[in-house]
Amino acid sequence: MGSGTTLIECKRLGRNGIGIDIDGKVLEAARSSIESEPNPFGATVMTFRGGDSRTFRLSDVVPEGGISLAVLHPPYHDIIRFNGIEGDLSGIGSLDDFIEALGQVFENTIGVLRPGGHMALVIGDKFSRGGQWYPVGFLAMQRALACGFSLKSIVVKNFTETKGKRGAE
Ligand SMILES: C[S@@+](CC[C@H](N)C(=O)[O-])C[C@H]1O[C@@H](n2cnc3c(N)ncnc32)[C@H](O)[C@@H]1O
Repeated sequence: MGSGTTLIECKRLGRNGIGIDIDGKVLEAARSSIESEPNPFGATVMTFRGGDSRTFRLSDVVPEGGISLAVLHPPYHDIIRFNGIEGDLSGIGSLDDFIEALGQVFENTIGVLRPGGHMALVIGDKFSRGGQWYPVGFLAMQRALACGFSLKSIVVKNFTETKGKRGAE
């Protein structure tokens, strides 16, 4: 859930939403911006702190029938260390371990998606100082396919003013 962008958009669009993050402090910080966002359609939005998305019992908080859309925005492996909390995916170890941990999140998520529901994964690739590129997004998609998801599309977000490989925008 991070800073709460998805729940703010839920309120703007009139969709009910549930936000989960392992970092309770992040959730507290997000709460005021979510609460101060107007709610013209009367959407219900809820936040759950301290939830590890791999193991959090989603069925306890998801309404019967499941959800139509899951938006996952995990760390991009270790490019930003989020908090050092145990279970934080940015501190998980190797890239293989990270992809496997994401697989656990996907499996947990698929259990509460309603038939015909969708999962959107927002993720970036990374590269090392030596110039090696790690296709984190493709590896994650492959892992999602192994969970039984089918791929609908890949949307490439083109940032300007963000530095990529060799300082290129
Ligand atoms: C890229 S940020 C999300 C940003 C968010 N979309 C926003 O609008 O601010 C990744 C978030 O994943 C959380 N996180 C890391 N490991 C997690 C885990 N195992 N379960 C749940 N959340 C986790 C971090 O605390 C961090 O807030």
